Amino acid sequence: MRRFFDIVRVATIALVSSSLVNALGQTPVIGFTSSRGSIQLAGPDDNAIIVLDGRDWPGVIRAGKDLAADFGKVTGTDLDYHVQNTTKGLPKTQFAIIIGTIGKSAFIDGLIAKGDLDVSKINGTWESYTTQLLLRPATAPGIHKALIIAGSDKRGTIFGAYDISEQIGVSPWYWWADVPTVKRTNIYALDVDRVQKSPSVKYRGLFLNDEQPALTGWVNAKFPRGKYGPGFNKEFHSKVFELLLRLRANYFWPTTWNSMFAVDDPENQYTADYYGIVMGASHTEPMTSSTKEWNTLGNGTWDFSVNDKNIVDFWYKTIRRAKPWENLITMAMRGNGDTALDNPNHIALLERVISKQRQIIDEVFDVPVDKVPQMWCLYKEVQGYPEQGLSVPEDITFLWADDNWGNVRRLPIGDEPSRKGGAGVYYHFDYVGDPRDYKWIDTVSLAQTYQQMKLSYDRGADRIWIVNVGDLKTLETPIDFWFALAYNVSSVTSIGINGYLEQFAAKTFGSQYAKEIAGLLERYSFLTARRKYELLESGIYSVINYREAETVLAEWKDLSDRAEALYSKIPAEYKPAFFQLVSHKAKAGYIVYDIYINIARNQRYAAQRRNSANYLTSYVQKRFQEDFDLQKEWDELLDGKWIHFLDQTHFGYNYWQQPMRNTIGGLSFVQFPQNSLAGALGVAGEGSNGSIPGDDNNNAGTFNNNTIVLPVLDTYNAVGSRWIEIFNKGNEPFNFTIKPHNPWIKVSQSTGTILPSQTSNTDIRVELSVDWANAPAGYNIAFIDIESSAPYGDFNMPSIHLPISKTAVSSGFKGFAESSGYISIEAEHATRKSSAYEVIPGFGRTKSGVQLKDNTASTQSAPSGPALEYDIFTFSSPAKGTNITAYFGTGLNNYPGRPLKYAIAIDDETPKVVKYVPDESSPGNLPPEWLIAVANNIWTYKTTHTVAPGKHTLKFWALEPGVVLEKLVIDQGSVVPSYLGPPESKIL
Ligand SMILES: *[C@@H]1O[C@H](CO)[C@@H](O)[C@H](O)[C@H]1NC(C)=O
Ligand SMILES: *[C@@H]1O[C@H](CO)[C@@H](O)[C@H](O)[C@H]1NC(C)=O
Repeated sequence: MRRFFDIVRVATIALVSSSLVNALGQTPVIGFTSSRGSIQLAGPDDNAIIVLDGRDWPGVIRAGKDLAADFGKVTGTDLDYHVQNTTKGLPKTQFAIIIGTIGKSAFIDGLIAKGDLDVSKINGTWESYTTQLLLRPATAPGIHKALIIAGSDKRGTIFGAYDISEQIGVSPWYWWADVPTVKRTNIYALDVDRVQKSPSVKYRGLFLNDEQPALTGWVNAKFPRGKYGPGFNKEFHSKVFELLLRLRANYFWPTTWNSMFAVDDPENQYTADYYGIVMGASHTEPMTSSTKEWNTLGNGTWDFSVNDKNIVDFWYKTIRRAKPWENLITMAMRGNGDTALDNPNHIALLERVISKQRQIIDEVFDVPVDKVPQMWCLYKEVQGYPEQGLSVPEDITFLWADDNWGNVRRLPIGDEPSRKGGAGVYYHFDYVGDPRDYKWIDTVSLAQTYQQMKLSYDRGADRIWIVNVGDLKTLETPIDFWFALAYNVSSVTSIGINGYLEQFAAKTFGSQYAKEIAGLLERYSFLTARRKYELLESGIYSVINYREAETVLAEWKDLSDRAEALYSKIPAEYKPAFFQLVSHKAKAGYIVYDIYINIARNQRYAAQRRNSANYLTSYVQKRFQEDFDLQKEWDELLDGKWIHFLDQTHFGYNYWQQPMRNTIGGLSFVQFPQNSLAGALGVAGEGSNGSIPGDDNNNAGTFNNNTIVLPVLDTYNAVGSRWIEIFNKGNEPFNFTIKPHNPWIKVSQSTGTILPSQTSNTDIRVELSVDWANAPAGYNIAFIDIESSAPYGDFNMPSIHLPISKTAVSSGFKGFAESSGYISIEAEHATRKSSAYEVIPGFGRTKSGVQLKDNTASTQSAPSGPALEYDIFTFSSPAKGTNITAYFGTGLNNYPGRPLKYAIAIDDETPKVVKYVPDESSPGNLPPEWLIAVANNIWTYKTTHTVAPGKHTLKFWALEPGVVLEKLVIDQGSVVPSYLGPPESKIL
């Protein structure tokens, strides 16, 4: 045993190197060097022991043993633990960790009784704990000094133990994402008293759902099949429960499509309770039953109006079975298998159902029914029922749902927040259904989740947060984020998403690359949320306007390249985790975008008869193969540990449901050995599908088949040039020379040679720009000839017409200048912004979102309310007026009587007030426009204004909390099609 010597004196200088890896908002209590008053929990010579009371919750003892083993992961030596039913007989030891629950541990209770441990701040509260160091703890004779972890209840203590695990460097994801543990020689407990209060949200859980093919494939490979189906047994669930507890979660909905939690393994329910997990079931599986259980073992039809006796018997059975364990019981009833009730008198029927269910619970449980936690999920059509007059007992928690696409549909109003049962939210990170499934890999917008869930919390939905996570894998970051937010909302809101991600990256990969990794994760979340992979098609992003497709693709390439570069740089032990959490997603997303955008290019190039069309067919096929190879790499990772988790098909959707096999279509070939009737040289330009010479169908030129007219290039164009492409559409090489007629036209490349090739892309992109100092004022058209060494076939030398417009804002103007017939503004770039607004970085499709800070603010008014102001300068005066399109996040009208609204005005005109989210088509049913809004991840609304040329101020007012403005586009008549809208104009 190590000789006693006082560490207090060793560290008179503040040597605190507290853990870098503190959980969010958690007080650091662990260090890796000694500091004033600290005690050594692990070291080369000696280790502390863990002390537990054998009469404490079995789940507490289990977590204490996990903590002992977690020390082993860090130092190589597990701590010894002592579980005893008497405080006597502990070995004489210098240091100990005493873990116990108030009222369940004699070690803890004795200290409280003697006045040595103050638990007044946590006693009787939900899931809280306190930790502190105590010299010679009276209840543990023989121990010199101890770290005391005292929990207010079972999970309070468990979270206290796992918090130490995390602070010594064991990631909650050590098993589920193979996050390695940094080896340490010395571990110290800091001399701090800490009180960890109750979580922000009472029940915090996840739902494993739509588990075919990925999770089920993996379970089939890893766990023995059960009598009725895949092996969703207690071994499988133990892994899930441990993860949940380490993430400070407490609630779980099991898989539903081919499993029966209580039947597949008769020990499943016990195991959940043993770990400390509160069991629930999906919104459609009431009374602790499962749909499959009824369909397999039930009697007759799942229709209470005709088969109530059998259904009631079934519920008696399931409720009796669940009685010993901690449950949050799903109430009411939907149709069989996630469908609506098919009954004209559904309100009366449901009232009868709920009343019968309450009677059963009341009879079976030893406590009155209103003491048994119950929830009723107002999912899909069910949301309309309370509005149709259904009355629900006060103690049942209303679990409001999102629209399956991350937009909460209803939040507490009026006196609902004071309902005894309170309210919660059922949310989706994965979905099967309209407008299309999203269940391959992570497509979660952390910014949208943050905005919607903070809104929910502020509006009083704090009783239950449950999130559908599909198969779980690839959603690790969103899941971690979800539980961080649910556990302590303000710990996340105080540092923002980037701050959270940096801490997550540091906990997971160490501090060295934490900033870089946080940047990659944030970028991934932003790029992927623009549109779900399953909804991508070749025509979504424009390959001719605003350089849109190429910009988006370059963003993906940059992300993928950076992730790959970092992958090769990080130490080998981090690679499997980095692949799973970061680089796989970046690469996989890039491949999908690369494929669809290059199919769009292929179609365009083939229509222009380019040889490069053929090259792109092979490029796309190569990338399609790489998509499969990446899946294989995943399957082979760590000897197949995560095999099948990427089995989900993701190419070739043609309706909402998944394709049975990955398929891509739409590739076109040109007849390579054949020369074009218009000669080998071809020229295409920005803004049209046309090409010259010779294109008849698509030709953009209004004059003839030798001329292309490009979109106007003006002084304030944000890019500063227009592009053309020169390509070979024949079987012979040629030299080209670009000859502008006007000396003020600049050409990025004037000459070149283009060989006929279908194995490489020999097309040349040329940028045309203007020497504005020497260009004439006003509107002019520049002529640019493209001369070829090869004949033009039946046609003439092609020529480009580039209209230019030399304009000037008035001197001293600061703000946005019109260019290309529009002004596009990112909402956060307000010239003047009221302090009532805040920016949510990474929100939406193009940059960020701006919303009212106070989610509980009352309805605002215009023009007196807080505004965003944008100074603009226009040059044109469109005959039919100026259309201003406002772009919003996909949030819904979740406050009956207070729909989302904004007001907009140019200068001092009377503000136009707009309700931009249409009403539900019928109670509980989303408006038809919603399908398009969530597919495109945007609500837009257009107002028309009169705007004379010159300087103006565009004023915007969010009239309700929850309105999140992303972008404003002022169309002076020339906006052309694109997915994201025109890119931002130049800010002067
Ligand atoms: C300690 O108490 C627990 C709970 O009462 C009991 O299950 C266990 O058998 C006891 N252990 C001993 C050694 O008495
Ligand atoms: C904790 O609170 C309970 C009631 O909730 C009470 O019975 C008990 O005496 C309290 N214990 C301490 C140590 O304050």
